[in-house]
Amino acid sequence: MSYSIPAEKISEIKHGADILEIISDVVVLKKAGRNYLGLCPFHSEKTPSFTVSPDKQMFYCFGCGEGGNVFTFVMKQEGIAFPEAVRFLAKRYGVVIIDQTSGPGVKKQMDERELLFQINRQAMEFFHHTLLNPQIGTPALSYLTGRGLPSSILTDFKLGYAPPGWNHLTHYFSGKDVALALVEKAGLISRRQSGSGYYDRFRDRVIFPIFNTHHQVAGFGGRVMDDSLPKYLNSPETPLYSKSRSLYGLFQAKPFCRQTGEVFIAEGYMDLLSLHLHGIQNSVATLGTAMAEEHIRLLKGVSQKITLVYDSDQAGIKAAQRCIELFKAHHQLEDIRILVLPEGHDPDSYLRQFGPESFKNAARDASGVFSFLINVAIKKHGLSLEGKLRIIQEMEEPLSTLTDGLTRISAIKEIAERTGIDESAIQEKIRENSPRRPFRAKPAEKVPDAGNKFDKHLIAMMLQFPEIIPELIEKNLIEYISDPLLKSTGNDILNSYRDLDNIPEQVNDLPSIVLMAADNDDKKRIIAACSIQKEEWGLEGCRKLMSQIERNQKRDNLRLLRQRIKVAEESGEQELLRQLTKECLDGQVSAGGR
Ligand code: UTP
Ligand code: MN
Repeated sequence: MSYSIPAEKISEIKHGADILEIISDVVVLKKAGRNYLGLCPFHSEKTPSFTVSPDKQMFYCFGCGEGGNVFTFVMKQEGIAFPEAVRFLAKRYGVVIIDQTSGPGVKKQMDERELLFQINRQAMEFFHHTLLNPQIGTPALSYLTGRGLPSSILTDFKLGYAPPGWNHLTHYFSGKDVALALVEKAGLISRRQSGSGYYDRFRDRVIFPIFNTHHQVAGFGGRVMDDSLPKYLNSPETPLYSKSRSLYGLFQAKPFCRQTGEVFIAEGYMDLLSLHLHGIQNSVATLGTAMAEEHIRLLKGVSQKITLVYDSDQAGIKAAQRCIELFKAHHQLEDIRILVLPEGHDPDSYLRQFGPESFKNAARDASGVFSFLINVAIKKHGLSLEGKLRIIQEMEEPLSTLTDGLTRISAIKEIAERTGIDESAIQEKIRENSPRRPFRAKPAEKVPDAGNKFDKHLIAMMLQFPEIIPELIEKNLIEYISDPLLKSTGNDILNSYRDLDNIPEQVNDLPSIVLMAADNDDKKRIIAACSIQKEEWGLEGCRKLMSQIERNQKRDNLRLLRQRIKVAEESGEQELLRQLTKECLDGQVSAGGR
């Protein structure tokens, strides 16, 4: 491997980091026997199949086949490479890594992210101080207080002010000896079209820093204080910031979402701050973009129930349709509600006028995605016979995207109830009108299903009951595994086992050692799956399995022998025939007949 973090550091982190703690940050886990279960953050599911084993320090999703150890998890979750994941965990657990010998490429990449975060943090401090600087910040400060934000919110969310002028950040960072190319990469300054040099992206705007879930500054939003356009300007897509992966306020909202099991998603910066101010802290905001899959992934770990808040039916309809689109393969719609505030109100203005209790009441009555669409259709078409037909017509499209039979049936039921038309009539109507569109089945899920049952058991046994390995080596059982991936995994286990040599106390650590050494993702999945699976292997089970495998092998060998005998008979090779027949008889004796 080409990274240069010393092995003992990696091992130190591995032993210091608790997978349960790390995963609990992003997935709600419930204890189930020795393991913990939750909803998988890597695919959409309704019933938890994501399993974490604190004993083995591994995770495995029985739904999508994703699995591994604490490093694998951080890599997948954060979308970073191994060395970065090591760093990430090192930082969290206070392990100091000094790299002097790093390969240039990897080190550069690791350091760059780190540097960009640092730059963003410095810029945030700069903006924040500017806001509080009476000589420069007064107009921005009075704008924000004029919008009802107390100083507690200004500090909690580190709001700031980017003063008018083109060169503040260039000067600021030049003074700190920071390469301007990096400041540009962080999205804070842009290269001048003509001539040389850079200019500030944010000018004369109040600034909203956007934190990621680890409280690192990923990007910024900036609002003008008058009617000029664009009203809001956000960071461009950078290595740290992507709008479809960011939710404003998520860091602050996380504990409240966990507490209440619910999250509100608003559309704007000011809405989010207002929700917070009014005690509805289990809220986040999307930033100038529609709900994306990644948003849902980020939220799923903190709460199951999601309420989208919109300021008009139109926006709500769009969002509802989008949710159906996003969720159609995974039938999870029941947990999503749509709350449309009265005409002309966004959460901010609504809260100011009617207060939080009224908001909470409205939220309690918020309807699910389908009910919402039905309501809108009824409002639009009325309940005359003509209107009812229109409603059904309008619901065809969303209905047809529902792949889950149960959700579909309950949606049809609801239309029937609301319109008074017979369920079967609705079904009939939909069938006759819609072009034949086959139900799209759930995409096949990737579980490592290589090899046969016995071979997989064999791998599980080696990982869970390493004491048996010497016996297994003696019987040469790995040789007989037919699936190449499983066989190679088996050999990896043997190698790791041999490397353990005379350190018996490390034997229990074998699964995690093998996992660390595995050279491809499929193997890692197999290792995680076999280590975590529910059966526990003990001596007796192992012996049984081994003799079963041996018996199977003998049977297969006999089958082969018989075939060869047949060929020998047909071609009249007497000597060969005699020999094969003898082999066959010997085999039958030891395989116990047949
Ligand atoms: P709105 O126009 O509804 O603004 O945009 P708002 O949130 O109510 O803001 P205030 O109350 O006028 O200050 C909603 C969200 O859409 C994004 C921003 O994230 C904003 O909060 N947006 C809007 C942009 O990114 N750019 C824009 O030019 C406008
Ligand atoms: Mn607003």
